[in-house]
Amino acid sequence: MILALETSCDDTSVALVDLTGAILFHRSLSQISLHAPFGGVVPELASRTHALHLPRLVEEAFRESGREISELSAAALTIGPGLSGGLLAAIAYLKGLCFFSRIPLIPVHHVRAHLRVAVGSLDEIPPEALGLVVSGGHTHLYRLSRWPDLELLARTTDDAAGEAFDKGAKALGLSYPGGPEIERLASRHEGPVDRLVKSIQTPSSFDMSFSGLKTAFVSLVSREGKEPERQPFLAASCQEAIISHIIDRVGKALRHFHPPALLVGGGVAANGAFRKALEALCGETGVSLHVAPRPLCGDNAVMVALMGLEIFRSGQFSSFPYDEIGPRPRWDED
Ligand code: KG4
Ligand code: ZN
Repeated sequence: MILALETSCDDTSVALVDLTGAILFHRSLSQISLHAPFGGVVPELASRTHALHLPRLVEEAFRESGREISELSAAALTIGPGLSGGLLAAIAYLKGLCFFSRIPLIPVHHVRAHLRVAVGSLDEIPPEALGLVVSGGHTHLYRLSRWPDLELLARTTDDAAGEAFDKGAKALGLSYPGGPEIERLASRHEGPVDRLVKSIQTPSSFDMSFSGLKTAFVSLVSREGKEPERQPFLAASCQEAIISHIIDRVGKALRHFHPPALLVGGGVAANGAFRKALEALCGETGVSLHVAPRPLCGDNAVMVALMGLEIFRSGQFSSFPYDEIGPRPRWDED
């Protein structure tokens, strides 16, 4: 059995899986209401709250699954990329637990974990796939030549796609996180939307950029006013602009590399209009699409547990005193 923790941003998430990958327990405590008044995640507040919530969630995991700590084969946790305070809270907690139980501690890469749950089983990942992670911290496109090796192909040059949704929602006076709010309002709109920006310049033709969209959207909102009857149109315009920009850039990459498969994960991948647009794009380009199931798009410990299980099976993990395990807030750029 593997215990997994995810604390890289504002969700404290705990999972228990058995060695076949069956989920025995999964629960996340969201900190949304805590950070909402600030319009974004406050790192110091996030790390203190992870430290507070972890012991209680882990206790619930064992009590509700009817399992014992002594049954653990290993523990796994996200060590980066992410906010260092939150990563540290879980590292300190789990080093203690693993020391006490004399079990291996497995470090997990957050982005690989997001992509891992895009497929049910690893056999579904062909060599030379592309992987897209779209969240509040990432809008990154990778080449996967041999799982789990990732080669960064393109990325946003400014905001992440999730941030663009959050900033769009803020301009409309909606609450954080903005993506689900924008999606809910946009689904009420029928008819044309405002094409916010015609062309977006980036260093490479696969890179993305959302800051110009945000500026154009803020000025659209000030022209139109944000009365309740205009909000669905505005939200639909914001959503369409973000999605069509990602689809344009990913489409260019698919047509250039002709990969057999595209894997997609991250909070923004929960968006229904985005999922439909990805299906259409992959249909046109003949690429097999694998998107994470909606409940596993955002940050969660199940993805960490499944990555941890894979590393555990490979036998390449860290034993006591776990010297090489520390936070790697900018893992991809270290
Ligand atoms: O993966 P995630 O939970 O955390 C990070 O690693 O960042 O992603 C959170 C981001 C937020 O910016 C949120 O607004 C966005 O994902 N998001 C959505 C939707 N659900 C969450 N964006 C668009 N549509 C959604 N339904
Ligand atoms: Zn994430």
